[in-house]
Amino acid sequence: MEDLTAIKERLAALRDIVSQHQRRYYVEDRPTVSDAEYDALYRELQDLEAAHPHLVTLDSPTQRVGAEPAEGFESVSHQVPMLSLDNARNEEELREFEARLMRLQDESPRPLSYVVEPKIDGLGVALLYEHGEFARGATRGDGRVGENITQNLRTIKSIPLRLDGGKLTRRYRLEIRGVVYMPRRAFAHLNSEHDWRSDWDTTLRTIRVTVSPDSGSTLAHLNRLEIRGEVYMPRRAFARLNQQLEADGQAPFANPRNAAAGSLRLLDSRITARRPLDVFFYTLGHAEPAHAVTSHWDALQALSRAGCRINPRAALCATIDEVIAYCQKLEAERNELDYEADGVVVKVDDLALQEAFGATAHHPRWAVAFKFAAQQAVSVVRDITLNVGRTGALTPTAVLDPVHIAGVTVRRASLHNEDEIRRKDIRVGDTVWVERAGDVIPQVVSVIFDQRPADSAAFVMPERCPVCETAVYRPEGEVVARCPNAVCPAQLRERLLHFAGRRAMDIDGLGAAVVDQLVDRALVRDFADLYGLKQATLEGLDRLAEKSAGNLVNAIARSRERGLARLLFGLGIRHVGERAAALLAAHYGSFDALAQADTEELADIHDVGPVIAESVSQFCSHAENRRTLERLAEAGVRLDEALVAAQSDTAQTLAGKIFVLTGTLPNLKRSDAQALIESAGGRVTSSVTRKTNYVVAGDDPGSKLQRAEDLNIPVLDEEQLHSLLQG
Ligand code: IVH
Repeated sequence: MEDLTAIKERLAALRDIVSQHQRRYYVEDRPTVSDAEYDALYRELQDLEAAHPHLVTLDSPTQRVGAEPAEGFESVSHQVPMLSLDNARNEEELREFEARLMRLQDESPRPLSYVVEPKIDGLGVALLYEHGEFARGATRGDGRVGENITQNLRTIKSIPLRLDGGKLTRRYRLEIRGVVYMPRRAFAHLNSEHDWRSDWDTTLRTIRVTVSPDSGSTLAHLNRLEIRGEVYMPRRAFARLNQQLEADGQAPFANPRNAAAGSLRLLDSRITARRPLDVFFYTLGHAEPAHAVTSHWDALQALSRAGCRINPRAALCATIDEVIAYCQKLEAERNELDYEADGVVVKVDDLALQEAFGATAHHPRWAVAFKFAAQQAVSVVRDITLNVGRTGALTPTAVLDPVHIAGVTVRRASLHNEDEIRRKDIRVGDTVWVERAGDVIPQVVSVIFDQRPADSAAFVMPERCPVCETAVYRPEGEVVARCPNAVCPAQLRERLLHFAGRRAMDIDGLGAAVVDQLVDRALVRDFADLYGLKQATLEGLDRLAEKSAGNLVNAIARSRERGLARLLFGLGIRHVGERAAALLAAHYGSFDALAQADTEELADIHDVGPVIAESVSQFCSHAENRRTLERLAEAGVRLDEALVAAQSDTAQTLAGKIFVLTGTLPNLKRSDAQALIESAGGRVTSSVTRKTNYVVAGDDPGSKLQRAEDLNIPVLDEEQLHSLLQG
């Protein structure tokens, strides 16, 4: 018989260690094990739980994958209302905020210190922990009543399912006044040995002492504790999600906030689990019994020790001048943040004072939101044009009167699709609000209807492709209209540009100007035609001198060696991004083997899934595509995996080199980046030391990047890593 006690112990230990690794990875961004080690532990936990389903606990890190769709959301009343914040638009209003608080203090006003942090444009949530275990999570709702979204919140990896038991500390500010004196005899003794000045024993001194006794309790031990924070979608993740949605023919989200809101309120939490949501916690709420923390800053530290992600930009300011300087700095840097922040929240640090200042019906008196200047401006829509993408998708774009927004001139804005135009009722001639948020493409936010010309007409999607005049179609249930003509010059142009891109076949010199001419003159009708281009032909093109024509011929020739993964990505098969291409290439090793596989077999590959599988099958079953691949092979393009075949070559380039990965790379998963480095002979370690040769940094890199810079270790981005891998 199995030893149940031993199994329970192993399960508890695994839950604990996997949770710790999740915390280090998702909350602290300092993983201490490799992905492979982590995966092994996670799998052991999963397997053991599968064998003993009755021993699965709710706080197990495996329980984050979402549950069966809910019927709807229950209401949750907030014990303490989730208020909104009063605004301060400028320095003067911040000073007025402080002056008001000074007036509110009676006889002896005390100087105030503040906690400041970015005001995240996401969704406020309130999480309830019972005896340290995540019990319930709710949206802010109208501030008094929100919705129970526990299942969805459980899927966010940076939300702890169990709080860690870091000790709470409490700061006392004591002022002890007294006289420092030297006893007479000691004085006489000292004076006999040294030449001391004789007025020492009469000097008055004030000593300030700060005591931090340990109150003994921890957040994890409280019977009930509410914590509040903001759920958001990081900008880059948002951009990728929208790309994916558009590729799937679904409506994209207008901004990261809507994307976060939409994802959190899905009834099917299994979909939420796949949405890239994150959280910053910003306050301790109601606690039973009362917690011992006396300042907001300490509350943040306590949250952090308990494993809750807090904003690394949070800061303590001793004066309102420091607050103002912080606001100015953050506003200048707002577009560098990987999340949208629309201002700075300024809070009085002392919790007793917060309580004394209290709240109006709408907002607390002890906090204020400094609002950044709008990144919006007014312009006029002069035209609505259609761009035909690589997959034939027709994307409407507004052509605008040039307008300056946050340092750049905006001339165009994406209108996404027909439904979006209709929903906002955007017409040529309209005066509109245009928004630019960080690196997101400019958007038309809304129409100023009372400035609409009397003779304006609603937008109608043309029935024919603006480039090849083939009738466009819009599949049932999709929002994207497409040109179905596979040889539409606009599509061919985009496909060739994608094929030649850095991450695909990397053909240097094959840019838009050249591709346009190749397509217009019918010199290239598919990818294979590129390999038959002669130098003399290229020399005949505009803006291509003899030397650059020669370079281009060489670049095309070199691209034959890129290998299957890049080729598959370059072919532009729907849904096949860089990652899927790499997985397929690694699994099959050659295009022929891939083309033999049926949909089911493809879908069985870890991380490939049915949508990609179906799309790949479709592609392979098209006679025309097969013909193109045959011609590519005849032209000497390798249809097998160069990486595997050429391992011994690459091994030389990275052999013995030590890498550290930090942050999120735009395309590669951490484990993929590691596999690539290892297959080329390199090694990946977790901490940056003098022995580290390269640090590969993505989004939100954390302290490893700083350490690399301190030690003068070269820092690479994903693209540079690819170049290095290719020697
Ligand atoms: S503190 C009494 N800190 O802004 C309110 N709020 O307008 C104390 N928000 O509902 C809130 N980032 O959802 C605080 N760093 C931050 C925040 C933040 C975003 C949201 C929050 C709140 C709304 C108030």
